[in-house]
Amino acid sequence: MAELENFDLAHISAVEILTPTFDESLWFFNELLAMREVERIGNSAYLRCWDEYETYSIKLTASNTNGVGRTMLRATSPEALERRVAAIEATGLGKGWREPEVGIGAWYEFEDPDGHEFGIYYDTTLYVVDDEDRPALKNQASRYPGRGVNARRLDHINYLASDVNAAGDFWESVMKSRETEQVELDEGGYAARWFRFAQKSYDVVYSDDWTGERGRFHHLAFATDTREDILKAADFFLEEGVYIEYGPYKHAINQTFFLYVWEPGGNRIEFANAGARLILNPDQPVVNWSEAERAKGQAWGMKTVPTFHTHGTPYVENQEEIDRDALAGIRR
Ligand SMILES: [Fe+2]
Repeated sequence: MAELENFDLAHISAVEILTPTFDESLWFFNELLAMREVERIGNSAYLRCWDEYETYSIKLTASNTNGVGRTMLRATSPEALERRVAAIEATGLGKGWREPEVGIGAWYEFEDPDGHEFGIYYDTTLYVVDDEDRPALKNQASRYPGRGVNARRLDHINYLASDVNAAGDFWESVMKSRETEQVELDEGGYAARWFRFAQKSYDVVYSDDWTGERGRFHHLAFATDTREDILKAADFFLEEGVYIEYGPYKHAINQTFFLYVWEPGGNRIEFANAGARLILNPDQPVVNWSEAERAKGQAWGMKTVPTFHTHGTPYVENQEEIDRDALAGIRR
């Protein structure tokens, strides 16, 4: 049965994306996704989607590698924040309280068992529109850009992990998020696990990294208004020369309509639309998929693209060769 603590997390926010090609990545998020740059500090640009109620959605940081930096999580209340921090501290994965920064109040730093970096906070700064960004309707965070992919908000994040079981157990027992679906391996353990904070069917996902590395990043997903937006996004990315890895298509697991591209820095970005699908049952049992069921492919039968299991960031040595081999059906 669901408990109070299952509702301690509100959503992911303020994800840091590392890129070795800053200008090109900035073009991707700013121009193609229609995100607005709201702050520039040092090597980082802070960008927001048009319907994000907080200050920003991603912190794009110039780096000598690609990958994900810190993911922020907003707690649902000061009490919820305290509860989760106490639970994190008990695991030894906590790193301590940190001073407020752009858009975010005091936050607590920690990492997951695979070494991905996180912060959790409650106090936030609501986005304040200016004349350029004022929406027609006062119940909308900022002006509807109506251009490019027109990304509305962050949706979910998917990490690669050297140990999906340990990462998943952390999100279940320490963060108290509820698992919606999972892929179980014939030999035991899981290939991937999906977790939700509220009624949206997933917020955080872990997938098995076939390279065996720790702490890598699979993808960050943005929500679009409609499935049609995702079809248009594919045409748009085609024109702009952005690499389309997979889709548009419909997932079997959790049934989201999707498109995956690699932004110029090599990080995988997804555009996702769940339609009207929500998990309304607070006690929804975990949906378990076997390897054989998973091998049938996505919702309408298309097989999962092999680079899904190999391409992650930061790149491992010979990443391009590994991805090429995967596309040719060779598993190293
Ligand atoms: Fe996804």
